[in-house]
Amino acid sequence: MNEFVNDFDFENRIVETSYTDEDRDNEITLRPDSFDEYIGQEKAKEVLKIYIDAVKMRGDTLDHVLLYGPPGLGKTTLSGIIAQELGVNFRVTSGPAIEKQGDLAALLTNLGEGDVLFIDEIHRLNRNIEEILYPAMEDFSLDIIIGKGPAARSIRLPLQHFTLIGATTRAGQLTTPLRDRFGVILRLELYTPEELASIVKRSAGILGVPIDDDGALEIASRSRGTPRIANRFLKRVRDYAQVRGNGEITLEVAQAALGMLEVDELGLDNTDRRMLETMIKYYDGKPVGLETLAATIGEEAITIEDVYEPYLMQIGFISRTPRGRVVTRLAYEHLGIPYTTAPAPQSTEGSQIKIDE
Ligand code: ADE
Repeated sequence: MNEFVNDFDFENRIVETSYTDEDRDNEITLRPDSFDEYIGQEKAKEVLKIYIDAVKMRGDTLDHVLLYGPPGLGKTTLSGIIAQELGVNFRVTSGPAIEKQGDLAALLTNLGEGDVLFIDEIHRLNRNIEEILYPAMEDFSLDIIIGKGPAARSIRLPLQHFTLIGATTRAGQLTTPLRDRFGVILRLELYTPEELASIVKRSAGILGVPIDDDGALEIASRSRGTPRIANRFLKRVRDYAQVRGNGEITLEVAQAALGMLEVDELGLDNTDRRMLETMIKYYDGKPVGLETLAATIGEEAITIEDVYEPYLMQIGFISRTPRGRVVTRLAYEHLGIPYTTAPAPQSTEGSQIKIDE
C-alpha cells in the first residue's frame, strides 16, 4: 500500500453510479414511460420495438431479455417501458433481495399472463435460487421439493407465461445455463454528450428549471455518459443557479456549480485523477494489471472494470492492452503531466469527446 490509498474516497463521490435515495426520487419524477420519451439507446430501442410489436400481433409473450452495461444507464427504466408498451404488470426485484428459494417461488406464482418480472443485479442471485429459474424460464413451471431425506418428493407447479428481464453490469458474470435461457441479449451503451443534453433539457422542463443549450451541454459533458449522474448534477446546478444567479442555468452557472463539486470539464473527479496519477507515478505509465491496480488504490477489481473504466476508456484516457491498463497521452495532457514515458501502443477508439490537441 502507499500514501495514496487513504486519499481515495470511493463512498462519497458525486459521480458515483450506484443508486442513492435522491436518485430514487429523481428516477420516479423524471423517468420516461414510453419509447417516444426515452432518449438514446437507439439500437436497443429499435430491436425491442420490433419484438414487442411482433408479440402483440401474435398475442404471444415476449422472450426473456437480458440487459447489460455500466450502472446508471436506465436498465430499470427501459424495462418499465417494455412492460408499459406490452400492457402488462411490472414487478421489480433484485438478485441480492431474493434470499430463499421460497422468495422467488412466491414472486413467480403471483405473476399474471405476460407479466414482466425484472431482476436487477441478476448476477448476484444465489446459485441454488438460480436453479429455480431454469424450469421457470424454459417451461413456465416451478419444481418444488417437499419434505426432506428419503421421503422428499418433487412436485411441478405450472406458472403463467411471463417475461423475465434480467439486468447486470456485465453478461460475462452470469452462469452459462442462465445466460443461455435469455432469448434477447442487449448491451446498453454510455450516452453521448448530445443525448445527455437532451435528457437534461427534458428533466429541466419537468422540474420547471430554465436552462439554455450551452448550460445543458455543459452538464451533459461532465456526466460520464450516464443519465443518473446528469440528473443528479442538474439538481445541484439548479440550487446554485437559485442562490448565486437568477435561477436560470447557463454555461457560466453550470461551470461554476460543477467546478465547486470538483468535477472537471470531462466529468473526472479527484478519485479518477488520483487513479490516473497513481498509474503514471507508481508504474511509470507502463501497463498495470487490473488486480495490481485494484490493490494499489484499495478498490475491487470488478468495480474498477465495471464502473470507473468504461468512461475513462470512452474518452480515450485508458486503453487495455494484453499486459494491462495503460494511461494514454490524452490523459497525461488533461492532467498536465509531461508525456515522457513511451508506453505500449495506444488506442483512443470509441472516444466520443474530442479534445483539441
Ligand atoms: N432520464 C433518465 N434516462 C433517460 C432517458 N434515456 N431518456 C429520457 N429521460 C431519461
